[in-house]
Amino acid sequence: MPGMRLDKLLTHMNCGSRREVAAWVRAGRVAVDGLICRDPAYKVDPDRACVLLDGQIQAYRAQRYLMLNKPAGVITASSDPRHRTVLDLIPESERRGLFAVGRLDKDTEGLLLLTTDGAFSHALMAPGKHVEKEYLAEIEGTPAADAAERFAQGIVLKDGTVCRPAGLEPVPEAAVQTVRVTLCEGKYHQVKRMLWAVGCEVTRLKRLRVGPLRLDGALAPGAFRDLSAEELSSFGLPVMGQTGIEISKK
Ligand code: URA
Repeated sequence: MPGMRLDKLLTHMNCGSRREVAAWVRAGRVAVDGLICRDPAYKVDPDRACVLLDGQIQAYRAQRYLMLNKPAGVITASSDPRHRTVLDLIPESERRGLFAVGRLDKDTEGLLLLTTDGAFSHALMAPGKHVEKEYLAEIEGTPAADAAERFAQGIVLKDGTVCRPAGLEPVPEAAVQTVRVTLCEGKYHQVKRMLWAVGCEVTRLKRLRVGPLRLDGALAPGAFRDLSAEELSSFGLPVMGQTGIEISKK
């Protein structure tokens, strides 16, 4: 099997000498992709394996997975000569290699993932993956009486585009007229166009969830943080480790 010996990998990550590392592996202190591995010669893919020593992720090549609370007024792009971008919200020292997973409109707020991991982004966003996204939309106008039914059946937009089945529910406790929209695709201006098709106009749009991941309510608009190990694993995808994340204490 191609790859690097586990003891060599841990040594390269400055965990200890080859002899020390081999002893730790034999003692059952090292896990690879969630399973204890007692064989120092076991071959791992240094770019993909999630290696834990005493419950701490030891990332060979650190990938980053950030949750950003996107404010309105910034565009989802890596750089732009005229507009402020989501990457401008990240300090320059931490920005290297990051890009947005999917996109939100300039005036849309809420959960946006940023990562350096192309495979992770593809697994969430590629057409055919159908990862659920949940939005709160403040609206003007009264949705058609059969709007929720039409959403559930797969609404046809005004230009004839057929959408996949989606959820539409009122949010009665909101101060202004608000609906919750749940989609499993990401067409251009999709929420706005779906609501337009049932007779209302979106005045404010916020994404609350992507797949299993909810926006952290403690993140102010414009703020970001690394995903926790639990959040990352909730996607059920093979992700590469983040440095410094503690999975569990020994
Ligand atoms: N739907 C929209 O209309 N805009 C977004 O930013 C996201 C989904």
